[in-house]
Amino acid sequence: MEKKISHTLKRGKDHKIVMPVLGLGVWGTPKDKTEKIVTTAINYGYKHIDTAQIYGNEREVGKATKGMEEIFITTKLWENNFGYEKAIKTCEESLSKLNRIDLFLMHSPHGIDNRKETWEAMQYLLKNKYVNAIGVSNFGVHHIKEIFSWADIGPCINQIELSPFLQRQELVNFCIDNKITTTAYSPLTHGIRIEDKRLIEIGKVYKKSSAQILIKWSLQKGNIVIPKSTNKERIKENIEIFDFTIEQEHMKILDALEEGFVTCWDPTVDP
Ligand SMILES: NC(=O)c1ccc[n+]([C@@H]2O[C@H](COP(=O)([O-])OP(=O)(O)OC[C@H]3O[C@@H](n4cnc5c(N)ncnc54)[C@H](OP(=O)(O)O)[C@@H]3O)[C@@H](O)[C@H]2O)c1
Repeated sequence: MEKKISHTLKRGKDHKIVMPVLGLGVWGTPKDKTEKIVTTAINYGYKHIDTAQIYGNEREVGKATKGMEEIFITTKLWENNFGYEKAIKTCEESLSKLNRIDLFLMHSPHGIDNRKETWEAMQYLLKNKYVNAIGVSNFGVHHIKEIFSWADIGPCINQIELSPFLQRQELVNFCIDNKITTTAYSPLTHGIRIEDKRLIEIGKVYKKSSAQILIKWSLQKGNIVIPKSTNKERIKENIEIFDFTIEQEHMKILDALEEGFVTCWDPTVDP
């Protein structure tokens, strides 16, 4: 399953690309196991891998996906690499490890002094075809408005933590209104709410696990979703979500789980 995502351009037609809606996240996946885990995921049908400079496993993702044009690769520019020259230089380093970058994200809005020049570098990387798409991660409404105030090219993606327990409705609506697709990271709440009885009960109705209910909820909300697992069975389980639909009555129960539960960091609220 794929989704069309688009960069809004100040001049000309929007630049559209196609992105698989389900990806494997590899944050915390040990370097020495990454190649095997990514290969396992690809064999189960995953067509999208989400890594980052800071995860330290880009080279291993690159080894597992070498020559596979059909696999969509996302990576992220780490905060220490912000700034015009450094962003371009470290993107080149990521490219040498990954062979190809489909989507390049600013990992966070941290860097109040050099956000503008960093985004200018991101635009340069897109215009010069180093990468096929550019976006942001952990950006709040005020950060995106700032980009729009000086950018030629808007971000096509905002990758943020999202789950029924953390729905960020205002930010998500802002993204929708501005044609920015949201990617839901930590969609399984980093494993913390996976045993929630309400998820298990809904899972029973569809003969699905609570992880599968969480992933499907995110997809039905229109997000790209990137669950992480290092376990063969769970990697398989997490992609077996295209054969059912959560009915409205159960979506409503899931929507009511909102509790502003952040499992990770939350730069969306930073200056
Ligand atoms: N942009 C950012 O700042 C940012 C921040 C956080 C995450 N991310 C991205 O989002 C990806 C996913 O987020 P995440 O790693 O924080 O957490 P997650 O996907 O919400 O949850 C992963 C945890 O759930 C477990 N798990 C996976 N599948 C399961 C299943 N079917 N049943 C029960 N448990 C299951 C995993 O254990 P096992 O491995 O043992 O299966 C792991 O402990 C990351 O890998 C990364 O790519 C991005």
